[in-house]
Amino acid sequence: MASITIRDVKKSYAKLQIVHGVDLDIASGEFVVILGPSGCGKSTLLRMIAGLEEISGGEIAIDGTVVNKLEPRERGCAMVFQNYALYPHMSVAQNIGYSLKVAGVPAAERQLRVQAVARTLELEHLLDRKPMALSGGQRQRVAMGRAMIREPKVFLFDEPLSNLDAKLRVQMRSEIRKLHRRLNATSVFVTHDQVEAMTLADRLVVMNGGRVEQVGTPAQIYSRPASRFVATFVGAPAMNILEGTVDLDGLSLLGGSRRLAMARAGLPVGTKVAMGIRPEAVRLVAPGTAGALDATVDLVEELGAGRVIYVDLDGASFSVMTSEAVHPEPGSAVGLKISPEDMHFFSSDTGTRLEVFKASVPEPAL
Ligand SMILES: Nc1ncnc2c1ncn2[C@@H]1O[C@H](COP(=O)(O)OP(=O)(O)OP(=O)(O)O)[C@@H](O)[C@H]1O
Ligand SMILES: [Mg+2]
Repeated sequence: MASITIRDVKKSYAKLQIVHGVDLDIASGEFVVILGPSGCGKSTLLRMIAGLEEISGGEIAIDGTVVNKLEPRERGCAMVFQNYALYPHMSVAQNIGYSLKVAGVPAAERQLRVQAVARTLELEHLLDRKPMALSGGQRQRVAMGRAMIREPKVFLFDEPLSNLDAKLRVQMRSEIRKLHRRLNATSVFVTHDQVEAMTLADRLVVMNGGRVEQVGTPAQIYSRPASRFVATFVGAPAMNILEGTVDLDGLSLLGGSRRLAMARAGLPVGTKVAMGIRPEAVRLVAPGTAGALDATVDLVEELGAGRVIYVDLDGASFSVMTSEAVHPEPGSAVGLKISPEDMHFFSSDTGTRLEVFKASVPEPAL
């Protein structure tokens, strides 16, 4: 077990800066997931922790020791990649035991340790096979075994499940989680899949454009997103956003066709504010219901356990998720009921959350 401290870590390739000063404290034994869109710098950050990428600025410490100048093998980290990177000409046993062989561990001890790891990962019956003769999930477990056998202080995962089919992904996800509970090693897991991130993480780090947008438990990030980016990136379907402008005694939405009465909370008239509401927080009611917004149904997406209803709200597209047995026809009218406590507000200029503004919503005046 080991803690990881990341202080103002930067990365540039030639003149191009990719990571813009990341600060992060990962506790010993914690499972931290780094989530963000493609190209935001997740792998780069992970590779800098592993020592596979040089750090352009700042400091990374593992268990209190600055590792900036240490070789990858001196850092006590093991990395599991998306493409497994198994040696095709070696058997499963040889793949798992390879790092011990390189380190000069005697054959007898090597065999015992390979067997112990194979037992944990339920690979014992496959030890003589070559990677070619394994399924995707089995290869993934061999890659895990190769990382585990070194008894690392830190596991670093870079999208290890993205080559697996949907069912296997879910299965491996819970296996990784169970394994983490058993081994209790510090784990940093990179993904751009938000469901994977939410289900695996003790704590979630949301990155965007080489910066950390928010750090928190999955529940905190879902219920109080710190920025418009986090709000719309986490959660599916994405949070609805309605653009608004602060007026004398409230917020004018959708170009003035709807209003929210509320205190201005010190924001000058004319300030642009975005109001966010999660599709699952909207209730469908009969059109014309008092305090509800009337909209027209565009499309209904059946999900089995529920459905997503896409509606047109004065020209803006809006989605509603419901598990109720309602099947409105495209073109029909519906009412949308939104509670003030479910509204999120963000500055349209900076994208940051406006907390005071939300607290001042007096009633469902939409
Ligand atoms: N060796 C390199 N030289 C120049 N630019 C690079 C290099 N490696 C990565 N980059 C750039 O750095 C940025 C971050 O890359 P990185 O691989 O960390 O993204 P990522 O968040 O892991 O994305 P993905 O989800 O697609 O894997 C990208 O814009 C990428 O093009
Ligand atoms: Mg990557």
